[in-house]
Amino acid sequence: MSSVDQLNFSVPRRTLLVTGGAGFIGANFVHHWCTNYPEDRVIVLDALTYAGNRSNLAHWEGKENFQFIQGDICDRSLVDQILQTEAIDTIAHFAAESHVDRSILGPAAFVQTNVIGTFTLLEAFLQHWRAKEQPEHFRFLHVSTDEVYGSLNTDDQPFTESTPYAPNSPYSASKAGSDHLVRAYYHTYKLPTIITNCSNNYGPYQFPEKLIPLMCINCLLGKQLPVYGDGQNIRDWLYVGDHCTALDLVIHQGLPGETYNIGGNNEVKNIDLVQMLCQLMDELAVDLPIRPSQELITFVQDRPGHDRRYAIDASKIATQLGWTPAVTVTEGLRHTVKWYLMHRSWWKSLLSKQYQEYYNKVYLS
Ligand code: NAD
Ligand code: TYD
Repeated sequence: MSSVDQLNFSVPRRTLLVTGGAGFIGANFVHHWCTNYPEDRVIVLDALTYAGNRSNLAHWEGKENFQFIQGDICDRSLVDQILQTEAIDTIAHFAAESHVDRSILGPAAFVQTNVIGTFTLLEAFLQHWRAKEQPEHFRFLHVSTDEVYGSLNTDDQPFTESTPYAPNSPYSASKAGSDHLVRAYYHTYKLPTIITNCSNNYGPYQFPEKLIPLMCINCLLGKQLPVYGDGQNIRDWLYVGDHCTALDLVIHQGLPGETYNIGGNNEVKNIDLVQMLCQLMDELAVDLPIRPSQELITFVQDRPGHDRRYAIDASKIATQLGWTPAVTVTEGLRHTVKWYLMHRSWWKSLLSKQYQEYYNKVYLS
C-alpha cells in the first residue's frame, strides 16, 4: 500500500527520536522508516498513555537499530539525556493527546502534552543543536493537524498553508499553540523545524475510540454505530501509509521553516463513510451478530462545537516535493477493515474497563 517508489533520492544516515511512536501514526511511521532505512537508528520515546501500545512495535524490539524508551516528553532531563547519549539529529514529533472528544471531557492533559511537551522538546533540541554547532541536516518535524484551521462551509476553498488559524476545540487549540511555538523557534533561533498539517488518518493500529475502528469493532460486537448530529460533517481521509511517505519526503527534502499540508483527496460525509464501512463489513466478516450492519446506525447527540468540514489543498507538497496520495478511500477502507478483522486480539485487548468508562461518558450520558 505504500508509495516508497516516489522516494528516489540519496539519503544520509539519520538517528531519529520518534515521540509517540507507540501510537497509531507513530507506529506506522516507525514501520515505514525501519523497513526503508535499515541503516538509520530509531529511538522511540512514548509515555504509553491509554493510546500508546508497545506491542505495535513488537516486530522491531531487540533489533540493533531500534530502541524503545518509556517516558514523558515533558521530562526535560530525560529528553536531554536521550538527545545526547543517542546523538539524535532528527526529531519526528507525534506524541500528543489526539482525540477531540477527550479534549472536551478534560482539556488539561492536552495543554500539558501538546503545548508544554512540544515546548520542552524544542528547548532541548535547540540546546543540543547549538552544542553540536548547528549542523545543517538536523530536523525537527512537528506532525500537526488540519483542525488548527477551523471549520469550512460546503462551498469554501480547502485549507492552504496560509489559511489563518481558527481552532475550535481544546484539542485543535493546543495543537495550534504547539504549531506557533515550532514556527517561532525557526524564525527566532533558526532551529530547522518543519510543520506538517494533515487530514484525518486511517489504517492499521488506530485506537478503537476513533471513528473508523470504532465502527468496525461495534459491527463485530453487534453494538450501535453512533453517528454524531445529522452525519453530514465532512472529513478528508488520508491513508496512514500515504501520510508516512509524505513525512519521509518532508524530512529528507522539506525546507526548514516551511509548513506542508498533507491530504488524502478523499472528502466524505460521515454518514456515507459509515455506510461504506457497513457494506465492507457485510461483505468481509463472516460472524456478524446483526446483518445488514447498517441496521446498527444510530444518530446520537452532536459533539459540542463539531467542525462541519475539513478539506486540504495539498498542492504545495505536490509541486515542491512531488508527493500525492496513492491510496483511494475505497482501497484504503477495504485494507483497513481486513486488518481489523485479522487482528481481533489486538483491539480486544484494548477494550478495557477504562475504555468502557470513557465510552459510557461520551455515548451514554
Ligand atoms: P495517538 O493518540 O494514537 O498516539 C499518541 C501517542 O503519543 C501515544 O502512543 C501516547 O502514548 C503518546 N503520548 C501521549 N502523551 C505523551 C507524552 N506526554 N509523552 C510521550 N508520549 C506521549 O495519536 P495519533 O493519531 O497517532 O496522532 C499522532 C500525531 O498526529 C498527533 O500529534 C496528532 O495531533 C497528529 N494528527 C493525527 C491525526 C489523526 O487522524 N490521527 C490527524 C492529524 C494530525
Ligand atoms: P474522529 O475520528 O474523532 O476525528 P476528528 O474529530 O478529529 O475529525 O471523528 C471523525 C468524524 O466522525 C468527526 O466528524 C466526528 C465523527 N464521529 C461520529 O460521528 N461518531 C463517533 O462515534 C466518532 C468517534 C466520531
